[in-house]
Amino acid sequence: MLLEIQGLEVHYGSVRALHGADLVLGDRPLAVVGRNGMGKTTLCHGIMGLAKVTAGTITLDGIPLQGLPPHRIAAHGIALVPQGRRLFQSLSVDEHLKLAQRGQGAWTRERIYDTFPRLAERRRNMGNELSGGEQQMVAIARALLANPRLIIMDEPTEGLAPLMVEQVIKVLQSLVHEGNAVLLVEQNLGVALSVADEIAVMVNGVFERRLNANILREDPDLQQRLLGVATQA
Ligand SMILES: Nc1ncnc2c1ncn2[C@@H]1O[C@H](COP(=O)(O)OP(=O)(O)OP(=O)(O)O)[C@@H](O)[C@H]1O
Ligand SMILES: [Mg+2]
Repeated sequence: MLLEIQGLEVHYGSVRALHGADLVLGDRPLAVVGRNGMGKTTLCHGIMGLAKVTAGTITLDGIPLQGLPPHRIAAHGIALVPQGRRLFQSLSVDEHLKLAQRGQGAWTRERIYDTFPRLAERRRNMGNELSGGEQQMVAIARALLANPRLIIMDEPTEGLAPLMVEQVIKVLQSLVHEGNAVLLVEQNLGVALSVADEIAVMVNGVFERRLNANILREDPDLQQRLLGVATQA
């Protein structure tokens, strides 16, 4: 899997939210960090075809994706776990998973229930009856059922209680361990450093720096300088 993004621009009306973002992503997990409003979600939406790309290129294994509609981009093997999870309030867990299931692939509903026992217990509960953490599990499961080659997650731990954050970290680590390509957007640097090998720092619609996670983990001063935050650990 090789995703190459060059000079990506996205506008909302006359406002430019991405200013020529460049990013190369292979099979090793990468986290995108950055403060509020820096363009992280816009990047995810630009890749998925949910926001109109006004300049630049996006290729997956050399195949150009920019300008394609979201369902075609999904068919090329990219799945998005959207910020805010976006479940249906009046569909059950099982109905969400049935809707997401696509053809034959390694991920089936049965495997999801094996991997996320909590979802098996809650399979008949509606979206609005689930905790934030359970909703996030459903959102991740829905993306996995598309059997993607690359899974993009937009702030999967946002708004979750610390115990649930730990559980989501474990899920992400096991996905990485199983060889899934992951692009993780996170404001929680501790989560980003627990999951990704490399960290790309987004500032005002461009990538300002890309660092090895080990280097950033050992250097609270650098964390503070780059992000104005330090990991709690
Ligand atoms: N639909 C929209 N219409 C107009 N402007 C938008 C829209 N969505 C985002 N923006 C603007 O684009 C910029 C980037 O927003 P984006 O949502 O990508 O940031 P983000 O890094 O994901 O922030 P957060 O961490 O809060 O999720 C912000 O200035 C935001 O106000
Ligand atoms: Mg966002």
